[in-house]
This record gives sequence, C-alpha cells and structure tokens, in this order.
Amino acid sequence: MRKEKVVVGLDVGTTKVVALVGNIIDGSIEIIGLGKAESHGLEKGVVVDIGRTISSIRKAVEEAENMADVKISSVYVGIAGKHITSINNSGTVSINRPDRIITEDDVRRVVETAQAIQLPPESEMIHVIPRQYIVDGQDGITDPVGMTGTRLEVDVHIVTGAITAVHNLVRCVEALGIGIEQIVLEPLASSMAVLSSAEKELGVILMDIGGGTTDISVFRGGDIWFSKVIPIAGEHITNDITVGLQTPIEEAELIKKTAGTALVDSVSEDEKIEVATIGGDEKKMVSRKKLAKIIEPRVEELLDLGMQEVEDAGYRDLVPAGLVLTGGTSLLDGIAEFAAQRYGIPVRRGKIPQGIHGLRDIVESPIYATAIGLLRYAVESRDFQKTRRAQQKRQASLIGKLFAWFNRFFRG
Ligand SMILES: Nc1ncnc2c1ncn2[C@@H]1O[C@H](COP(=O)(O)OP(=O)(O)OP(=O)(O)O)[C@@H](O)[C@H]1O
Ligand SMILES: [Mg+2]
Repeated sequence: MRKEKVVVGLDVGTTKVVALVGNIIDGSIEIIGLGKAESHGLEKGVVVDIGRTISSIRKAVEEAENMADVKISSVYVGIAGKHITSINNSGTVSINRPDRIITEDDVRRVVETAQAIQLPPESEMIHVIPRQYIVDGQDGITDPVGMTGTRLEVDVHIVTGAITAVHNLVRCVEALGIGIEQIVLEPLASSMAVLSSAEKELGVILMDIGGGTTDISVFRGGDIWFSKVIPIAGEHITNDITVGLQTPIEEAELIKKTAGTALVDSVSEDEKIEVATIGGDEKKMVSRKKLAKIIEPRVEELLDLGMQEVEDAGYRDLVPAGLVLTGGTSLLDGIAEFAAQRYGIPVRRGKIPQGIHGLRDIVESPIYATAIGLLRYAVESRDFQKTRRAQQKRQASLIGKLFAWFNRFFRG
C-alpha cells in the first residue's frame, strides 16, 4: 500500500469515541482504520471523568490501530461544549519596506494584531481563522504573499474555549502517549465533511445534532462566520421518552430510533408500539402518536434554540442554501421535514462528499461526520501543507545527496 501520509481523526463525543485512520494520497482520503467505543466520562460534550474518558479513547484507538495496522502517535482531536465561543475581529499592519512586497512575515504580523482581543475569563484561543485579507482596500484576497501594497488588513474568526475543558481533553489523549497535532472545533470539522463549497459560498447553516450537544455553524463566502455549541441533543429526547413512557433508558433509546418521529401529524391515531415497562418483564402497548408528541416539542425546542442563535448573530437572512443537518440525531425520522416546514428554508441531511475512499458504507453515516471532517481538516490545514512541503523538501535534498554520492562514487 502506498502510504503518503497517515493522519488520524479522534472524535471524543458524548455517546461514542471514534478514531479514524486516513491514508492521504494526492489530497484524497482513503479510510484504512476505524475504531469505535462507547463513550463514558463526557457530559454535554465536555470531559467530566478523566479515567473513563481515557479508557474509552484507548479502546477506540486500539481498534483503529489493529484495523489499519499502524501505530497511532498523533491525532487531530475535535472539541465541543457550551464553553466554546466565537468572535470576529480584524487587524491591520502597514508595509514600510521600499519594495512594498508582502511577505509571510507580514501575514503573520497582521494575524497577530487581529488576535488582540479581550478573551472571556478563564478561556484560551482554539482557532484563529483568517477569512480574508485586504490589500490597500482591495478585499477578498485569500493569499496576499507576493502582492504589493502599503496597508495589509485581515478579517479573522476566533474560536475560544474554557482552559480547563481544553486541558482535560488534552490530558486524556496525552495520557495514552498520543500527541495532538491540533485541537479542532467540532462544528468546523463536521462542516468539512458534509458541506459543499457551493453551499459554503452561498451561505448555509450547519447543525451537528449529536448525543449531548448540538453544534451550530454558519458559512458564507466560503468561510466560517459563526459557531456555537448548545447543550441539548439526542440524549434529551431519549430522557423525555423515558419519563413520558415510563420505560428504561435503553428501551427509550431503541424506540426513538425505530418508531420515533419528529412529525406528530405523520402518525395515525391507531398506530401502536410495544414498550417495556420499568422493572417488569411485561410489555405495554402505547400509541405511536403519544411517542411523537413527546419527541416533537423537544426537537422544536432544540432547533428553535439553534435558529435563534443564528438570528441573534444576524445571519438568519444570509443563508440561501438553508440548513444542513448531521450527527446521529439527524437520522431521526421527520426531523429535516419538520425543520423545513417550521422555518420555510431548504433543509437536507448531510452526505459525505467526494474524495473519501475505503469503508465508505460504514463511514457514510452522519455519526462519523466529525471524524471524517477532522481528516479533511488535516489535509487542508496549513500546518499539514507545511509539514508536507518540509517533507518534500527533505526528500528532495535526500535524493540530491544520494545523487552527489553516486556521482562521486562512480565518476571519482
Ligand atoms: N436512527 C436514529 N434516530 C434517532 N436518533 C438517533 C438515530 N441514530 C442515532 N441517534 C442518536 O444520535 C445520538 C448520537 O449521535 P452522535 O454519534 O453524533 O453523538 P456524539 O458525537 O457521541 O455526541 P456529541 O457530538 O453530542 O458529543 C444519540 O442520542 C442517538 O440516540
Ligand atoms: Mg459528535
């Protein structure tokens, strides 16, 4: 097998941990290993029990290592939780050298000035994403290096997280002797798996509705403008069913997936389902409409909260490509239809796009969107490009040395 570069995405979710090993060949990703373990130790996307989180991660990582037949030494790890906040900022520097040619150093300087913000207390920066550069008033520039100008500006999207939450996650990974290439905002990762560049260009909302959190992000002009994590998702629906139908949690989870729907109106009065009772062996018959009446209001609340965030941030009318749903809860029957009716916008479930090979039928499920997105992030991030370039340079110089040695040896 040709292994140009192996990268690993680690999604430490509230319900499951996924380790995905990708072999990157010419920018496309071939999935060669998948490990999945039940997640214990997280609540609402945040580590609350280090020991249990470590053993969940260990399990997923070992499984992925065995399948891919590689030793995992570093990962791109996703982060979520309601401690995450994001802000947009900008920075400016002047180019005073006589040639006025913008260098990489100028770009670094301007991005640095854009980071001069008051951070929320006890928080640290996770991402500083340059959205666009402006050279002497000319905007929409993605790479200004080599251009001529006197004034360089940048617009950035800054994502911050609580120091303790970030450090606990880092500790869990490092405890296994695994290094972290980069911590990546989960909504950003998911977006890289399921959004098309046309949607991102036009304007689109992405909601990754998982077990413990719903991650919201808004894209426009190809870039991320807004991100937010809200602590309500699939587990809340399951809990509501447990209470509403007086049934054990495992049964509630199963019923949600097999008979649940977000559309009360789609269910007829006479449909009945069998439900286990708490503590008893016998089953009882319950109307499926009753189940839908438990689910629908929670879905409504969850989606309303998400849409309200988008509205408050001022993007509600700037997203002609509508809403894309991913994460496990996007599999809930009727959820996309419910959202389309309620908000009068196009709504679709996310699909894994082109450029991913291997294990496709497994990873096509929306529960893997974040892990796949982490691999995409790895491929597209500048850091990776840099290491790749450095690697290519090293290889080139190695070949050069070999060549020189050959010449000396054979030609004297
Ligand atoms: N067919 C289905 N119908 C309804 N809900 C489903 C279905 N399949 C999975 N889910 C729900 O999806 C949720 C898990 O989704 P996912 O794997 O995306 O979460 P996670 O990444 O572990 O958690 P988070 O991202 O919130 O930290 C669970 O609540 C599960 O009940
Ligand atoms: Mg998730």
